[in-house]
Amino acid sequence: MKALVLSGGAGTRLRPITHTSAKQLVPVANKPVLFYGLEAIAEAGITEVGIIVGDTAAEIREAVGDGSELGIKVTYIPQDAPLGLAHAVLIAKDFLGDDDFVMYLGDNFIVGGISGLVDQFRAEKPDAQILLTQVSDPRSFGVAELDAAGQVVGLEEKPKEPKSDLALVGVYLFTPLIHEAVRSIEPSWRGELEITHAIQWLIEQKRDVRSTTIHGYWKDTGNVTDMLEVNRTVLETLEPSLDGEIDETSEIIGRVQIHKTAKVTGSRIVGPAIIGAGSVVTDAYVGPFTSISDDCRIEDAEVEYSILLKESSIVGVRRIEASLIGRNAEITPAPRVPAAHRLVIGDYSKVQISS
Ligand code: TTP
Repeated sequence: MKALVLSGGAGTRLRPITHTSAKQLVPVANKPVLFYGLEAIAEAGITEVGIIVGDTAAEIREAVGDGSELGIKVTYIPQDAPLGLAHAVLIAKDFLGDDDFVMYLGDNFIVGGISGLVDQFRAEKPDAQILLTQVSDPRSFGVAELDAAGQVVGLEEKPKEPKSDLALVGVYLFTPLIHEAVRSIEPSWRGELEITHAIQWLIEQKRDVRSTTIHGYWKDTGNVTDMLEVNRTVLETLEPSLDGEIDETSEIIGRVQIHKTAKVTGSRIVGPAIIGAGSVVTDAYVGPFTSISDDCRIEDAEVEYSILLKESSIVGVRRIEASLIGRNAEITPAPRVPAAHRLVIGDYSKVQISS
């Protein structure tokens, strides 16, 4: 069995971060989101992994390399344009050969891994198996309709009137039959070869398409809100370790990881939080659910529930919250503009003016 991991795409929902870098490499608790997926694949005993790459190929290659550090062997498969998930399968045919495979969307995050699922697929051998989860508003997802026995009878992409509340999770298990399916479908109105259409084709051919509904945690990290939420979830399981240089006037509370080359002076850090290599925190407050990557600078500032990418800085600003800060970004206070308030105020009034 092989794995096909999709790490191309446009990442429009995470702009402007994705103008300059791959969304699959945005760090969650200081580790690229893509790595959680690759680790889950390795844990399931799959070693041959094809990674679909687009415009950000160089960056993905640099981060993942040949995969040996993760215990996998990576083959890169360039995709000229993000022409759809089924298009990715189409261009990966040579790599996949006649093997079964798991297809994993590189920006998806699943707690609990995929080992159980892969074992079940290997034992039962359906023609395809999809993963579903209940969502409150299915209209922005691929949605499955099941019969009473749990067999998949239909799939719809972002339906206006969903037939169920079961959304497709970004992990799929396929037999080589999917190759015929992706060759048989036409691009959708948005110009993409949709994997939902390919699976629908299998259903129409009376193939055995099964589903597993997961109740664990799943997120598509395609937007900032979900990204911060995944970061929060992972930080909650952080192993605390205070290895950096921390002065006596600093106060560290709760689950906090401070890299051995990081420096904390005159600051208060309330976990869960992680401070990466070479980062310097001075006279600052770092609040819960914050991930500070490598070589960042937080000085005379407050930040919480945020992700800072490497080499970014926040100096003299309070308070930054629910934010995703890109590489090398600098945040400083706006210069004070002299402002005058002209007032005609009645007797006994109370007026509050921010100053
Ligand atoms: P999406 O999040 O559906 O698409 P996108 O990356 O273009 O993002 P946005 O909607 O914000 O513009 O893609 C899911 C995953 O699959 C993601 O990791 C990118 C990857 N992908 C490809 O590798 N090739 C493709 O043709 C497409 C559409 C996505």
